[in-house]
Amino acid sequence: MTILVTGGAGYIGAHVVRLLLQRGDVVVVDDLSTGRADRVDHARMVRADLSLAAASYPLAELMREHGVTGVVHFAAKKDVGESVARPAWYYEQNVGGLLAVLRAMESADVSRLVFSSSAAVYGAAATDGRPVGEGATCAPMSPYGETKLVGEWMCRNAERAWGLSWAALRYFNVAGAGWSDLGDPTVQNLVSIAIDRVRRGEGVPVFGTDYATADGTCVRDYVHVADLADAHLAVLEHLAASAGDAAERTDPVFNVGTGAGSSVLEVLAAVGEASGADVVPLPVDRRPGDPASVVADVARIRDVVGWDAKRGLREIVGSAWEAAVAGSNHPPTGAP
Ligand code: UFG
Repeated sequence: MTILVTGGAGYIGAHVVRLLLQRGDVVVVDDLSTGRADRVDHARMVRADLSLAAASYPLAELMREHGVTGVVHFAAKKDVGESVARPAWYYEQNVGGLLAVLRAMESADVSRLVFSSSAAVYGAAATDGRPVGEGATCAPMSPYGETKLVGEWMCRNAERAWGLSWAALRYFNVAGAGWSDLGDPTVQNLVSIAIDRVRRGEGVPVFGTDYATADGTCVRDYVHVADLADAHLAVLEHLAASAGDAAERTDPVFNVGTGAGSSVLEVLAAVGEASGADVVPLPVDRRPGDPASVVADVARIRDVVGWDAKRGLREIVGSAWEAAVAGSNHPPTGAP
């Protein structure tokens, strides 16, 4: 088994690469724009910009040369606000990158793909507080979410046209660290922001305290990056096991979350517990575009793939805290 991992030097990708290396060969393609080569020391690493790959980079040749049997495609831009400011660039990067991967896979006769999608595809469909299932009508609220939905459509079309065997994983709020050197100080999510503020002795902004939730703050489904990495391995195995079994396959789009929501204040309480510090919430205005509650219905991935999240909020925040402390003791070397 040789798996090509695009974006494998990134935060989530590097966790998956480390698990895959325990089972077989891995080739990483990453432009290192946000990823770090030192995260994937034991994998073969090729530096390339996928959105330019069709024109300038022989991705299909790379697949043939290494006997690649499957692809996990992470390489993409993921900042919602930036996607609103630079929509064309987001389409170029995210849709163009996947296009290059699909073309190369078809040409090199590689049929298995796991595609990183996002809960951002739901947009307005995920705002009423109930867990959202994959069957919901998607209404992305940003170009970022649109590019992920378009990506799923591209995969579905490639399945019909030439037999791509694929799955899209719709990630909910990913945080934590599976290994303390793989936490990501550059990821700006609530958990990393709160930890950073607490370490500086500052309060943490809470974007809105008047939502229709139990404590008035937004609720999200936080999933541990190590659980998410396990989900990729489980889905790759599922694709291998269901090869040639198209009639048996359900729609291969899966939510990856825990099925439980945590409020901003609950996250801050967990940071207080992990750090032993007093965490001071600083209520500020709502952030535009934030839905009150986004929680995954996780029945499909549990029933079809047999995967379930094993770690909760306490482990997510605890591991993120340890990674942050380890990171400042040992600053990364070899970063671009
Ligand atoms: N929040 C604060 N204070 C902060 C930062 C965040 O109160 O300093 C709140 C936000 O308002 C939100 C929650 O914490 O209610 C989580 O915010 P994040 O920015 O960590 O995550 P989002 O839910 O906004 O975004 C995540 C992913 C995106 C993805 C989106 C939709 O980071 O990539 O979910 O699925 F697109």
